[in-house]
Amino acid sequence: MSRRKFIAGNWKMHMGPGRADTLAQDLRRELLDLQAVDLAVAPPFISIPEVVARLRHTGIHVAAQNLHWEPRGAFTGEITAEMLRDSGCTYVIIGHSERRRLFGETDPDVNRKLHAALRAGLLPIVCIGESLEQRESGKATEVVTTQLETDLAGITDDHLPLVTIAYEPIWAIGTGRTASPPQAQEIHAAIRSWLRQHYSSGLAAAVRILYGGSVNHANAGNLLRRPDIDGALVGGASLKASSFAAIARAAGSGLPNH
Ligand code: PGA
Repeated sequence: MSRRKFIAGNWKMHMGPGRADTLAQDLRRELLDLQAVDLAVAPPFISIPEVVARLRHTGIHVAAQNLHWEPRGAFTGEITAEMLRDSGCTYVIIGHSERRRLFGETDPDVNRKLHAALRAGLLPIVCIGESLEQRESGKATEVVTTQLETDLAGITDDHLPLVTIAYEPIWAIGTGRTASPPQAQEIHAAIRSWLRQHYSSGLAAAVRILYGGSVNHANAGNLLRRPDIDGALVGGASLKASSFAAIARAAGSGLPNH
């Protein structure tokens, strides 16, 4: 099973509507000829309409950075999956480590959000990853597979191929300290092996597993050449069209993973 590479940009709390529109225009120009890679960008909620309008018919999809699991109600400040669909989002990032660490999001929350996203027809990108302390005590694999147990609970064979997993070691996010390609590949392989144990090898082979954490144009190529690294979730380097495009082109220049 060959997996198309997928590069997603997480703009985090950057780019209000005006600046988001400009960045989307720049991306449109830089990436128009790149057909071999799936692409998405995740602006803040308030900038989604501008980015959706600007990227229409480009093949660059729009993702949200979060959602609430309930379909409606008294949840001040929250946004439903249906609203994101209505606004033109294709993907949604769920369980980013910043949401877990700074906003108290738990694995059961991630699971509820995942089911809500799938019910609404959004394609989820589920983030998992260990802290530095967990890595240094040799627990990285155990931490991510434990996250998967709860995060993916109740996900059926039909839904699994719609899910993208992003392995983002917390110590590599925004620090300039990226996991080495062998370190990342080791965890990606463990994630795929977990998927094989809980689904089938065919389904496990269909799921894309992205790496995230200080990905830039210089390190992307070596990471993306590893057999189980199917793309990248890019933070800082997605805020400039030229650096995001360079990462996307690095992904496009490799062969799809088998
Ligand atoms: P970074 O962020 O590329 O700035 O490390 C990645 C992420 O948080 O998704």
